[in-house]
Amino acid sequence: MGNGYVEVSVVASSETEEGLCDFLFSEGALGLVTEDLPGEPAGIRIRASFPGTVPVEPLVEKLKRYQESLEALGLCRTTRTIEVRDIPVEDWGRTWKEHFKPLLVGRRLVIAPPWEDGPFPENRLVVRIDPAMAFGTGHHATTRMCLEALEAFMDGWPEDQGGPVVLDVGTGTGILAIAAASLGAARVVALDTDPEACDAAGKNLALNQDAGQVRILHGGIEILGPADRFDLLLANLDTRTLCPLLHTLSRLLAPGGRLIVSGIPVEDNATVAAVVQDSPLRIVERRVQDGWLCLTLVAR
Ligand SMILES: C[S@@+](CC[C@H](N)C(=O)[O-])C[C@H]1O[C@@H](n2cnc3c(N)ncnc32)[C@H](O)[C@@H]1O
Repeated sequence: MGNGYVEVSVVASSETEEGLCDFLFSEGALGLVTEDLPGEPAGIRIRASFPGTVPVEPLVEKLKRYQESLEALGLCRTTRTIEVRDIPVEDWGRTWKEHFKPLLVGRRLVIAPPWEDGPFPENRLVVRIDPAMAFGTGHHATTRMCLEALEAFMDGWPEDQGGPVVLDVGTGTGILAIAAASLGAARVVALDTDPEACDAAGKNLALNQDAGQVRILHGGIEILGPADRFDLLLANLDTRTLCPLLHTLSRLLAPGGRLIVSGIPVEDNATVAAVVQDSPLRIVERRVQDGWLCLTLVAR
């Protein structure tokens, strides 16, 4: 199927929850719902929704292999019950309305779906994100940490310099780009190699009043001009995509600029640290949540 969504549901023992959730997100799940299952030993059911275009059979095979590897390591007892069903667009929307609630992030942001009327806390900026079609709702630790690091950067930006110029590499829903604009960026360029993500980001821009200064471009950093420089770079990618890009990203930094990266599982810490060591960058801040890392880097 091409339209609508696919739900992959997996029943497993409770101790596998974190690993399975990370696995499903890294395979492109748009959202997850976890239910506790009564009984002894305690179990869980995770329902993950994917875009209807996802190749389901390879995904299920990979999920089975992942569960087998957990079992082989003696980390869990899994029941390996995996079910797949198509979900029409309308039903997916209904499910999300039940589970996607406003989320407070950092000190100044609240991420809210378009159907939530509030009221929202007065001291917070509302970033409207429709959780359809792309990654980036704020519920994943990597997005949340990038938002927190972005807020910290904006807090430290001198008021008399106008807003910073920001690049968001891998914008997904556009959440980081829109938050940057709401927090006072002068201009934001948001890139994504996935045309569906660009489409979703465009729709989310239209939901947000402060997003006029965000420009969405389809492609990777190679489409930028030779003279383009940014005060802040945001790159919530994954270790394998990020590492080879670090050198090029460092060249896009304006003097005194910062690079915030995430999408790095904590077990990749040493790999990423070695790549940073070999680059013109150094780490100035490190965040860890739910087994994921977010690093802030500056030029040496
Ligand atoms: C983990 S999502 C991050 C979404 C959002 N920025 C967030 O923080 O929640 C990564 C996004 O990067 C995009 N992507 C992957 N490789 C890329 C690359 N080399 N250049 C630009 N975008 C890329 C993917 O299509 C995906 O939308």
